[in-house]
Amino acid sequence: MWLWIVGVATVISAVALTVLVRHRRHRGRTLMGLAEQRSEWVQKQPIEIAATTDREVLARVFARDRLIRIDNFLTPSFLQRLRTEAEENIPRMVPSYIPTHKKGNTLSYENIHRYAHSCLGLYHSAELKDRVSAVAGLNVAPTPDRDQSSLSVLCYKEAGDHINWHYDHNFYRGRHFTVLLSLANQSSSGGVSQGQLMKRTPLGDESIDTSPNVLVIFEGAKVLHKASPTAEGDLRIMLSMTFCADTRTSWPKEFARRVKDTAFYGIRALWD
Ligand SMILES: [Fe+2]
Repeated sequence: MWLWIVGVATVISAVALTVLVRHRRHRGRTLMGLAEQRSEWVQKQPIEIAATTDREVLARVFARDRLIRIDNFLTPSFLQRLRTEAEENIPRMVPSYIPTHKKGNTLSYENIHRYAHSCLGLYHSAELKDRVSAVAGLNVAPTPDRDQSSLSVLCYKEAGDHINWHYDHNFYRGRHFTVLLSLANQSSSGGVSQGQLMKRTPLGDESIDTSPNVLVIFEGAKVLHKASPTAEGDLRIMLSMTFCADTRTSWPKEFARRVKDTAFYGIRALWD
């Protein structure tokens, strides 16, 4: 009897392992194909950054607070292009709901490669990389293609959409930075939505202005933060980008990152 059970378990494990390996190879080929086409797509995207804020001042504030905000970051026409792309992709976003922790919708890095080339162009632009590096005080680069949170569009469009207090855990060897660009932030009665980016400080909780076209750079592993719930009729869309000083990782950290990503993309994030 036991021999039979062990035999069946062995066959099931071997089949599951074969399916997983073949799926991972297929995913690897898909991501590599998208990455190969990316440079052509990115080169076609004009990057129009308007902000001229003094980089040294920003770097000093960042070294102190680990968070800075830049107003009017893009030209209005470039911001509008990004916003239009994001809104057109709302039907492709993955809804997520984890009671008491998170509710909202996310457009994955893979779908941004396919359907949102202006967003892709900004993330992979030398201009943005230089700005983030100057603020952080070290050379950073986009996080790996397999990390679906490297670049995503976060959409809060229903009452109660939010993400509760958390750190952006760092799964890489080098320091890791989160960059949020507000593409839309409005309520049905005018003004910004009730959904606010908040950070916790020793002096209390602070709200960070994320009006449209505000760029926020922060070290999420050090700054406890949340997005408070949106109200009925609110629309809040953030382009979320991550950069890292050294993207090497380990198998345990890679697995932990995938577990984290299930909160955004469901259980598939474990093997995709
Ligand atoms: Fe976060």
